[in-house]
Formats: sequence, C-alpha cells, structure tokens
Amino acid sequence: MTINTGGGFETLAIHAGQDPDAPTGAVVPPIYQVSTYKQDGVGGLRGGYEYSRTANPTRRALEECLTALEGGTRALAFASGMAAEDCLLRATCQPGDHVLIPDDAYGGTYRLMNSVLAGWGISYRAVPISDPAAVRAALAERPARVLWAETPTNPLLNIADIGTLAQLAHEAGALLVVDNTFASPYLQQPLTLGADAVVHSTTKYLGGHSDVVGGALVTADPDLGERCAVLQNSTGAVAGPFDAWLALRGVRTLAARMDRHCANAARVADMLAAHPAVAEVRYPGLPGHPGHEVAAKQMRGFGGMVSFRVRGGEQVAVAVCGRTRLFTLGESLGGVESLIEHPGRMTHASAVGSPLEVAPDLVRLSVGIETAEDLLEDLRQALA
Ligand SMILES: Cc1ncc(COP(=O)(O)O)c(C=O)c1O
Repeated sequence: MTINTGGGFETLAIHAGQDPDAPTGAVVPPIYQVSTYKQDGVGGLRGGYEYSRTANPTRRALEECLTALEGGTRALAFASGMAAEDCLLRATCQPGDHVLIPDDAYGGTYRLMNSVLAGWGISYRAVPISDPAAVRAALAERPARVLWAETPTNPLLNIADIGTLAQLAHEAGALLVVDNTFASPYLQQPLTLGADAVVHSTTKYLGGHSDVVGGALVTADPDLGERCAVLQNSTGAVAGPFDAWLALRGVRTLAARMDRHCANAARVADMLAAHPAVAEVRYPGLPGHPGHEVAAKQMRGFGGMVSFRVRGGEQVAVAVCGRTRLFTLGESLGGVESLIEHPGRMTHASAVGSPLEVAPDLVRLSVGIETAEDLLEDLRQALA
C-alpha cells in the first residue's frame, strides 16, 4: 500500500516538528523540563506557552511529529495509552451514549469501559469487529456514538477492515476510533482509510525501547482535536517533557525497527506453524490467517506480534513462558527486545469471566529485533 503523508515517512519521523532549536541550534528538541514561562507583559506569551499542562515545547514536538505520521490534523500526547483512550471517549461520549468495542479488545480498554465509564452512564457492547455483518447488525440494533476498533487486536491478532468499518460507522452516525498501537503509523494509517481518530500506547512501538509509558491520540477533524485538547488541559494527564522526549527519540527509528520486527516475526510464525507442540499460530502474515487479505490491503507489513496456542493446555503454555532465555517473561510489547507472556494470567487477566476472556493455552510473543536465528533457537528449546 502507499502511505499517504505528503512526504517520505522516514523523513517525517526524523524531521516533522523537530526543527533545530531556535535559540541554540540543538539538532534534536531539547527537554524543556519547565512548568511555567516568563511572559513579556501580562498575556505576552512567547510561542503560546504559558504553563506546561496546557503546552510544552518538547511535548509539542512529539505531537507535531505524530500528526504528520498519522496524516491527521491534531495530536495530543498523554501520560499513558489509557489516559489517551479515556480522553477520547469522554470527549466524544455523554452519559447515555453507547460504544461498540472489539470482543477481543486490549484488556485495559475493556476495563475502562466496564469498570469506569459504564459507571458514568456510557454503555458498551463487545462485537467481533473483523466481521462487518456483525458490526452492521449491532449498529442497527442500538445506535452507537463510537465504534472502537483495534487492528491487529491484542492478543489474538484479528484484523478489521478499517475502510469498511469507517463506512459502517459513518452511515450509522458513529465515529470510528482505531487503536493503532500494534501496527504503528509506519505499517498502517487509519485516518487515511476513513477513521476519525487514532489512539496509541506510545509505550509500545512508537517509543520502542521499553523505557517510557506514554500515550497519544490523533484526530482527523480539528474540532474533535480541540475538544480533546480542552479535556486534556482540564484533567491534566499529559506526557511529561522527558517522557515526550523519549517517545520522540523512539519515533525517529520507527521505520527501521518495524521492518526488522516484521521480518523476525514472519520467521518466528513460520517456525511455530510447523512445530508439533503448537496447535495454532495467530499471525496476520500467514496466508491461512482469516484476516490475511485485509491486512495485506491496508498494512505495509504484518507487524512484530505473534500469538500461538500450545498443545497440552494452560500448564504447558505457562511452562513455555517460563522456559525461554532470550524472550523475557514480561507484560508490554513493541520494544527492541523480545518478550513472552501468558495473556490469560497476565495482560488479559482483567477479562477473565467476561466475553473477552482469552484461551488459557495462548502464549503471546513480542518479537524483537535480535538475531532471528537466536530467537528461533530459544523458542525451539522452550517448546521441546
Ligand atoms: C493495544 C493497546 N492499547 C492500549 C494500551 C494501553 O496503553 P498504556 O499501557 O500505555 O496505558 C495497551 C497496553 O498494553 C495496548 O496493548
């Protein structure tokens, strides 16, 4: 597919929002570790900065870069991905509104809807968003304010057709929000496919080095962006200057890292698919994956996440997670180092007993950018 940013993606990742610092010529945006700004007379702001909850130059550099990379009009950087999700949902929904979420959404998204926003009068329903007919039926049954999509999903790596969902949402008067954390804007740009807003956990591929927790939202419509900015400034879950700086440092190498993540994950998926201890591999790059064709249409590559089910049930899955040496047992994903986890007991434990509960024999890998052969060898010995 063609990535439509009006410029080369790699160039924008390195330069958008990142002009050399005007006073010093510093070639990367400095960490403006500052809360307030001298005014030249009352109301005489320099560059629009008055207080760092409202705006900060380091955070703004990250926001401008993300706006360019996602092809949006406005980006806002948050203290975490969940803070970005919360802001977007509360900027778009009022008590009494209804939201459709994927039936295999990230566990934290489910918890936000089920344990927090439901208590404030925003109802939700989980639907299989890779099935457009099911989404259409759910929208017809009860009007929704927001159709929330994740693609690929966490942890099952299901694929939703963003263009089709945008059409269904808009026909029903809903907004389409896409959590683009797993793909990153290098692999997929939902706004150019018709989505209204994108959210990210910048903790993952955008940051890329497992050294910062952060989030972002990007909107297509400047008015929606402004509503989110007002809410962000009012509630205050902003990215701090150092966190914004770390995320932006990661973004500069996103393209190079993602190419390697994709290449390594494809090799891991192929190896697992042929392994006798593995019952099923979930990777959208495999031709047998139900979303393979849609992924090939809307993504530049298939990403670095691979999930698989083992033969032998939960105990075997847990044991495999404990036996790897190079794949580190841990939550999160998207860093240069490979991680392994058991979603049922770890990242998705909050979904146990809900329609989003994941199979107990499922293992999730975040395939890093180490030497591919070393990764394969590590998994082989863990599965042996
Ligand atoms: C797909 C997805 N969305 C959102 C989040 C939440 O992001 P954060 O942990 O930065 O709050 C995560 C975290 O794992 C995630 O995987």
